[in-house]
Amino acid sequence: MARGVLIGGLVCLALVTVGVVVFVSVWFTRDTEEPPTPDERFYDEVKDWERFDCHPESGETQELCEARGCFWKAVDEDDLAPRCFYPLTFGYELIRGTEGTELGWSAKLSRIEGLQSRYGMDIDKLHIDVEHQTETRMHFKIIDASKPRFEIPLFIDKPSVKPVAPAYEVAYKESPFSLQISRKGGPMLFDTSFGGFTYEDQFLQISTKLPSTNIYGFGEHNHRQFRHNLNWKTWAMFARDVAPVDEWNLYGHQPFYMCVEEDGKAHGVLFLNNNAMDVVLQPLPGLTYRAIGGVLDFYIFVGDSPEHVVQLYTEAIGRQDIPPYWGLGFQLSRWNYGSLDRVKQVVQELKDADIPHDVQYGDIDYMDEKKDFTWDKVKFAGLPEYVDQLHADGMKYIIILDGFIKHAPGENYHAYDRGVEMDIFIKDPGGVNDLIGNVWPGDSVYPDYTLNKTTDYWTQMCEEFYQEIKYDALWIDMNEPSNFYQGSIDGCNNNRWNYPPYYPRILGNVIYDKTICMDAVQHIGSHYNTHSLFGHTMSISSYEALKRMWPTKRGVVLTRSSFVGTSRYAAHWLGDNQSFWSNMGWSIIGMLEFSLFGFPYTGSDICGFWFNTTESMCQRWMQLGAFYPYSRNHNGDGSPDQRMIPQHPTAFSDEMSRVSREVLLIRYRLLPFLYTLMYEATVKGSTVVRPLMHEFNTDAVTYDIDRQFLWGPSLLITPVLEEGATSVEGYFPDARWYDYYTGEELESVYRGTTKVLSAPMDYINLHVRGGFIIPTQMPARTTVLSRQLPMGVLVALGDGPNYPAMGNLFWDDGESRDTEKTGAYLLIEMSCMNSQLTLTPVNDGYRDADSLFFEHIRVFGQMSTPTRVLVNAKEIFAPDYQYDANINELFVRNQNLPITQSHTIKWL
Ligand code: GLC
Repeated sequence: MARGVLIGGLVCLALVTVGVVVFVSVWFTRDTEEPPTPDERFYDEVKDWERFDCHPESGETQELCEARGCFWKAVDEDDLAPRCFYPLTFGYELIRGTEGTELGWSAKLSRIEGLQSRYGMDIDKLHIDVEHQTETRMHFKIIDASKPRFEIPLFIDKPSVKPVAPAYEVAYKESPFSLQISRKGGPMLFDTSFGGFTYEDQFLQISTKLPSTNIYGFGEHNHRQFRHNLNWKTWAMFARDVAPVDEWNLYGHQPFYMCVEEDGKAHGVLFLNNNAMDVVLQPLPGLTYRAIGGVLDFYIFVGDSPEHVVQLYTEAIGRQDIPPYWGLGFQLSRWNYGSLDRVKQVVQELKDADIPHDVQYGDIDYMDEKKDFTWDKVKFAGLPEYVDQLHADGMKYIIILDGFIKHAPGENYHAYDRGVEMDIFIKDPGGVNDLIGNVWPGDSVYPDYTLNKTTDYWTQMCEEFYQEIKYDALWIDMNEPSNFYQGSIDGCNNNRWNYPPYYPRILGNVIYDKTICMDAVQHIGSHYNTHSLFGHTMSISSYEALKRMWPTKRGVVLTRSSFVGTSRYAAHWLGDNQSFWSNMGWSIIGMLEFSLFGFPYTGSDICGFWFNTTESMCQRWMQLGAFYPYSRNHNGDGSPDQRMIPQHPTAFSDEMSRVSREVLLIRYRLLPFLYTLMYEATVKGSTVVRPLMHEFNTDAVTYDIDRQFLWGPSLLITPVLEEGATSVEGYFPDARWYDYYTGEELESVYRGTTKVLSAPMDYINLHVRGGFIIPTQMPARTTVLSRQLPMGVLVALGDGPNYPAMGNLFWDDGESRDTEKTGAYLLIEMSCMNSQLTLTPVNDGYRDADSLFFEHIRVFGQMSTPTRVLVNAKEIFAPDYQYDANINELFVRNQNLPITQSHTIKWL
């Protein structure tokens, strides 16, 4: 039978490297008919989905497979399972036991003797460190025992004492070595006793079995579904300049996933590694990481729920600053307006149509020949004065900066000359000359943002440019980094960095495709090891630059490329999408994923970047985009003879302008709520755009929902994502839900079901969840204006008997740095129970809020007619309150309740 043949085959190969001992023992096993070894049994009994791929490259044969020391077995034709798979006995063994450390233990591992080598670069002796960092965070790292390898300089704080009662348990097996991390009293979360644990210089592989099939995350990709398909899908990660069209690796590198366990609890796993890598998902359920460098560095976050996992993850990697209030306003951009006159015209059109508009952008066409830190004094003559004028009108102006500088020796281009003088550009492989690539301005060089002095350089450049144009924030782009040459002006060397032995499934035929050579020299290591950190380090330099320039004022950095922890420094938009209906739905998945990666302030280009939108698509997209935390309509350029049609809200009909205005007014009305969610993201790490499953984690239906999303715990957004549709299906988990517009409660038969909702072209479905309170404010054309206006409170009563509801309001000046730390803010706790709403300032550190009032209170779900209504113990009468028995809404109005004081509103 197959096993006999196989053993023969394996022995022949083993002879070469292992010798007589193995030879004797294996034949002995066979001759005496002893019970099969675990590997033999495994071979006989293995199910297709239990196979861990040993030959992911195409062209596998039995011979090649067995040369790797792996098993070969056929599969049915349409089965995606690998034919070549690992035996159980593969990897390393623990030698000399474990040694206790402050936070756990460490041990030495030795490669099991006699195993075939894949690429001849095996590291035979490893060192593993296992740390119980906190009650909910476990860390393990496996490094070369004899010499240092590249490690990411990302500092995750850890306490010096072991947690007393961790939520997890860690066990190990000695040979082959594997780790088992389980939830205390619960399922196994991470178990590496599968697949082929390999540690070669340029090929690191480790696998785990997963406790459920509810896997989310890994990025950046254009995933077509939020919950992963585990049917043998490989996702590659490596920062890349390419549009989010197919399933290829995109701009950012986010090696983090979350798994929701069978009972709704969840855990997250970070593989802290930025080398090019694959993650293979398989139906076991299980997954395999294959990285081509770095070290095996894992953090496991053992949470109570999906939302808790994000809090734990962001506690480790860092959280964003609260964005300035104006950053939540509507933003408008296009690549190539052509002239400042055109910009002025578009801005004026929006103003005339009374469409909320806080931020206008300058894309690369504001620059002189697309060079950073310059501006086109002909086509954009008067730009500095115009930016001042925008400011006077309560608006902001954001400029783009690309991650490279034009290579311009002798051209008197100060950004280049200063860079040369300060010696901050990435070097070619020789280590002496600056590497030359080619991007928008032509030949270009790349600041090495891993160097401290590059931040000084970047700050100087930003500061000098600010003297000319008073921009308000930075949009940093092309920072994967992008390069229109392959590698460099001179190509790239033929060596193992530019041609690594294992090539992950990244886009492009060579690893340096659309970027710079892997053996280019950066301060902290070769580009091979630092590639996916380019956008991250550029974000840090940009963040620092703004902080040095404006020590007390908040800046915003918006980055295209990101890594783990970038959200501390920069927000992210989802890149160059396309004006197709499909892309609207994908943008929701993208936002949900970036929520998971710890980025609360995200969105994608409203109405699409590439290709021409249509009016109806753009209208639907404006409705959806009004609920992107980062809400920007941005258009591409097109080709010179065929420019893309304009897509700003007034570019179409009056009806389109009206619909855009109205939906943006809803957004602006809800900004105090959105801002409060941003505050909570900063202090607690909670998500802003929130998947339904974060709130209803025991309702398995929510695990697949990615065409609806929540703002925080309570506002459900159900957009139309299909052309021509005037109805939409929405799922309503078990709770009270109210129509945001009318206050009418969804019939209780729909609790926990899907409902078809009417959705005319000018309407987006919004529902408020019972049990929550949402602060609002009268909207206006800019946030400068809206921030002065009367406020309101929307109470959505929860279930009986007490009909509770709660919420809060965070308010500050909207632009000073770190108010959540300095205390210069107002925080109001809002709570409702038994027909009594109380508004209580719990932090009263922002005096300017004294001039604001709550003007009205809407109470949804009040089932009986109140006979008396008391505001701060004083009875009020109609028309100051009104009860609508048809929709069970109590409406209290004409109030002047200073928001910095406590209030009680009671109805009997
Ligand atoms: C990149 C950006 C896009 C921008 C363009 C020109 O493609 O992703 O948003 O408009 O460059 O700067």
